[in-house]
Amino acid sequence: MKALLSDVKIIDLPKIEDPRGNLSIIEEEKNVPFKIERTYWIYDVPGGQVRGGHAFKEQQELIVALSGSFDVVIDDGVNKQTYSLNRSYYGLYIPAGLWRQMQNFSTNSLAMVLSSTHYAENDYIHDYSEFLKLKEA
Ligand code: TYD
Repeated sequence: MKALLSDVKIIDLPKIEDPRGNLSIIEEEKNVPFKIERTYWIYDVPGGQVRGGHAFKEQQELIVALSGSFDVVIDDGVNKQTYSLNRSYYGLYIPAGLWRQMQNFSTNSLAMVLSSTHYAENDYIHDYSEFLKLKEA
């Protein structure tokens, strides 16, 4: 739970430009600094809805706006930063131990999340005051 905002990174993914259409790539441990155990995606988000609003104890992730745009607000218990994702060749790397929320989804936006762990409910911290206590510990 030691991660700070300064550990969050925008990763510039390879972009192969082509008149037939562009192509981008993510390779495990090359463009993403962890072994990918799970991929999920968030789509059909109604206007104004917010996703996330929790932290993970172990899970590291890379979030890519494959289509459209949305904001990811990251909080290390002291400072907050908002990343606006709107390009399919940028990945937002978020280490474990940071609070994060996803909001301002545009119509037809598609958020892909690559995760370093399988799904585990007990990896979630849903309570913000518990999060702050763990950060202070
Ligand atoms: P959750 O991670 O809470 O969504 P968000 O943080 O974006 O609001 O997940 C929503 C529901 O989906 C919850 O019931 C758990 C389930 N879920 C899985 O079963 N497997 C998964 O890999 C994920 C990400 C969620």
